[in-house]
This record gives sequence, structure tokens and C-alpha cells, in this order.
Amino acid sequence: MRLVRPQVFVSRRIPPEGLDIVLGRCDARIWEGEIPPTHDDLIREVRGTEGILCLLSDRVDDEVLAAAGPSLRIVSVMAVGYDNVDVAAATRRGIVVTNTPGALTETTADLAVALMLAAARRLSEGVDFVRAGQWKAWDPLLLLGEDVHGATLGIVGMGRIGRAVARRAHGFDMRVIYFNRSPVVVEGAEPRESLLDLAREADYVSLHLPGSPETRHIINREFLHCMKRNAVLVNTARGSHVDTAALVEALREGRIRAAALDVTDPEPLPPSHPLLELPNCVVVPHIGSASRATRGRIARLAAENLLAVLDGRPPPHPVNPEVLNADRPGS
Ligand code: GLV
Repeated sequence: MRLVRPQVFVSRRIPPEGLDIVLGRCDARIWEGEIPPTHDDLIREVRGTEGILCLLSDRVDDEVLAAAGPSLRIVSVMAVGYDNVDVAAATRRGIVVTNTPGALTETTADLAVALMLAAARRLSEGVDFVRAGQWKAWDPLLLLGEDVHGATLGIVGMGRIGRAVARRAHGFDMRVIYFNRSPVVVEGAEPRESLLDLAREADYVSLHLPGSPETRHIINREFLHCMKRNAVLVNTARGSHVDTAALVEALREGRIRAAALDVTDPEPLPPSHPLLELPNCVVVPHIGSASRATRGRIARLAAENLLAVLDGRPPPHPVNPEVLNADRPGS
């Protein structure tokens, strides 16, 4: 163990399961704001640090890496998705990037199912209705929605979270079809060769892809037009997967039944955004991994990744492992 305490920047107050580990071993500057640091704040705060523990809302690009200077050895992201980090730039500079996969799979899958049910059975409309004092009698025509049991679920991206959603869907007697960019075999689920084939067949579409330039707007106007009129789109992955303007249009025109979104583009969604005026759109504020246990687990994993690299050990979850065996530029 090193005697000198490394300087690190933690871009937000994170659960104590992780923060206490970092504070026990490092001189940590912690961003205390309720709002994430701006890009300029990041550039200022990371100067001279050896490690950055950041969140998915922090854009860590080459400018931030350069501002940190040659001391920087690790960017530890407290999330499974790391599309906020310029990994290629970090690799060029010999900086390890890590994430927290696995730890949030089941919790995120739970939310995907919760959103599917909420949209299908119009839960937020029902809650608003009761709160507004409109519940006068049992009504045979009130808030009719769609069945989930027995329906077809189309999963886009059959990785860890996609599979966890498929397992849950079987409990609802759903038929599961999926599209994955590389071929994979998943027991109890049927692959579809194209995204549009999946769109035509599914009653529910749930997105479970990583964010990247290749997956940007993978759900576009053409996809939405191929979906069934009573279909529901669920997104717990990344807002950038969906062309938001096309989704607003599809929901307004009744081309699809509903959408349920944990992630949006832009994010956060401004209160005046057209999506929020649509009764057939449920939006929650990117809480896929937000159970107490899971947020504690991913905070601890992020701290363990950080400290491993600062101690000169391989971290549990490197995103660019090639950096671990390479000489650092300039060393
Ligand atoms: C959440 O969106 C994550 O990537 O962990």
C-alpha cells in the first residue's frame, strides 16, 4: 500500500459503501452540488489528480483528461454505461477506464418490467386521476389498457440486462423475441434477423443496448412506423437510442399505444418538453439502478476499481484492459 495518499476527484456525493472506501485511502475532492459539475467545473476540479470517480452525467472528454495532466491514471465510472467517457482518448493517454457491470443487472431489469406494466395498464394516468379527485365510481370503461400476460416482448440488445428482462417476461407467460447485433443463442427466446421484423411482431419493445454512435437513433421514424398500433416502447438503456421527435409524433398520432422511458434525449427532460404533455408517455428520471442495495454495490465497485489502479493492481472491471499491460506514454 502507498504511503502518500493519492489525490482524486469524486464528481458527486455517492453512497457511503463507496465513498468511505475512497475517503479512507485518498485525498478526495468531492463535488457537493446537487447539479453535476459543468464541463468547465470538471476541467478545473480534475487538475493534478491521479483518479477520477465520475457518474454517467459527466462528459469526460480529451479536454478533461488533458486538464487532469500526466498524473491521471484512472477514470472510474459508477455505471455500467460509459458512453460519457472518451475511451479512445483515455487509452491513447494510458489512462484506465472502468465501469460497474453486473451489479445493476437485476435492478434495472426490474424497472424495465415496472415501466412496461405502468404503460400497459396506464398507472400514472390512474394515479393522476385519483389525486385530481376524479374517482367517482367504478366505471366499466375507465382507463382501459393492454394485457401484458401472453403478449410478445421484443428485446433489442440481448446482453445481461436483456436476458434478465426475458427471464421476468417468462413469468408473465410472454413470448420473447429479440434482436442482437451479433448472433447469440438464448434459451426460451427467438432471434429475429432484423430490427424491423422485431418491430412488426412485438407488442412491447424493450431497449437494452449500450450507448454509442452506432446505436444512436436506432429507434427512428421507420422503426416506429413498423410497430403495431397497440405496441409499447420501453427504454431503460440510453436516451440517444430513440429519435425523440419521431417518438413524440408517433405517440401524438397514435401510431403506437404508449412509451415508458427511464432515459431520454435530452436528459434531464425540461418540464416544458412535449413528451411530458402526452398522457400515453410515462417518464421517470433515470432510476434504473436506483435501489438502495444496488446503488451501494455499484458505489463500492467504482471505489474498488479506483483503488486497484492507484495501488498498481488490475481493477475488477477495466473497459480498456489493453492499457494495463502497456507502458504509459512518456514514462
Ligand atoms: C445506468 O444508466 C448505467 O449505465 O449504469
